[in-house]
Amino acid sequence: MTAPTTTAAQTDTFPLKGTDHLEFYVGNAKQSALYYQAAFGFEMVAYCGPETGVRDRVSYVLQQNKIRIVLTSSLLPDTEIARHVAKHGDGVRVLALWVDDAESAYYTAIERGAESAIAPLKRSDEHGDVVLSAIKTYGDTIHTFVERSNYNGAFLPGFEARKSVYPVKSVGLKYVDHCVGNVELGAMNQWVKFYQDVMGFKLLITFDDNDISTEYTALMSKVVSNGNGYVKFPINEPAKGLKKSQIEEYLDFYKGAGVQHIAVATDNILETVAQMRRNGVDFLYVPEVYYEDVLERVGHIEENLEDLKRQNILIDRDDDGYLLQIFTKPIQDRPTVFFEIIQRRGAKSFGKGNFKALFEAIEREQALRGTL
Ligand code: FE2
Repeated sequence: MTAPTTTAAQTDTFPLKGTDHLEFYVGNAKQSALYYQAAFGFEMVAYCGPETGVRDRVSYVLQQNKIRIVLTSSLLPDTEIARHVAKHGDGVRVLALWVDDAESAYYTAIERGAESAIAPLKRSDEHGDVVLSAIKTYGDTIHTFVERSNYNGAFLPGFEARKSVYPVKSVGLKYVDHCVGNVELGAMNQWVKFYQDVMGFKLLITFDDNDISTEYTALMSKVVSNGNGYVKFPINEPAKGLKKSQIEEYLDFYKGAGVQHIAVATDNILETVAQMRRNGVDFLYVPEVYYEDVLERVGHIEENLEDLKRQNILIDRDDDGYLLQIFTKPIQDRPTVFFEIIQRRGAKSFGKGNFKALFEAIEREQALRGTL
């Protein structure tokens, strides 16, 4: 659920109404659920597990405005979930997309070259019916298509409504802005072509290693988007530098391609980030020198520069306006998945002007881990 319903542009091979949910496979869903409630301000909305008749797993569903996160752990040692966690650590298994017709989305995607993950199936309970299907994308990640127009339950059939056991305070996160994948050296174009051919996405932007490099490391990136712009997937691959790039570090620790970061939007980044810091979230640090000449680069902004500096928030401008952004440190033990908090003030881009400062910040973290 990224934004209100509207008709997709004609380029889409099937219309996407937005991101339905993100499912993480994690080692301990119960504790992760508390982290997302306490630190990120998500509210518990649904649950499935032994108490609801599910024997092999537990899932907690958390929501903040239009962002829905599912945290799933295996209750058994040798399941697809357990193997995923053993190999990748905590990570994103499912980028679920909200569609009008999950069966036709699936068969259209398969016809256009996608690999099947789950053939269309209908699930029902007293709240109605949902149709689900899924195709594979990079690494062990899948896209589930969710058709839920005939359903009014808490999440999906098999889940029961469940509330947080304490009053959770939202930090003002609104919707998923974009989800970034890291893929192996040489695989970026293949996956860009996949999104173009299978889903009818368009190529939005290309960054090469001249755009994204520091003294030591480099990466390349292409951004694909669906017709209505609600679903944007930047795809990164490592490029040759003097030292190991952050993308290589990710691929080493994640043991392959996977979701690198999830960007979530807020209307008030200053308040959101201040609250998240109070809640214990760790952000990447960019040195104060960044702020000395930033206004020469981005021009006038509404916010007070001192306030942004205090929260270490970065600024960038494109032809349509400007944006404010900040990145968390990795949110699990392995240096893999992290979050971006973004506030768009017109800008439609991804913060190219901040890449150098950001990558230097990541390199300082890599140096501490001995992986630069
Ligand atoms: Fe991003």
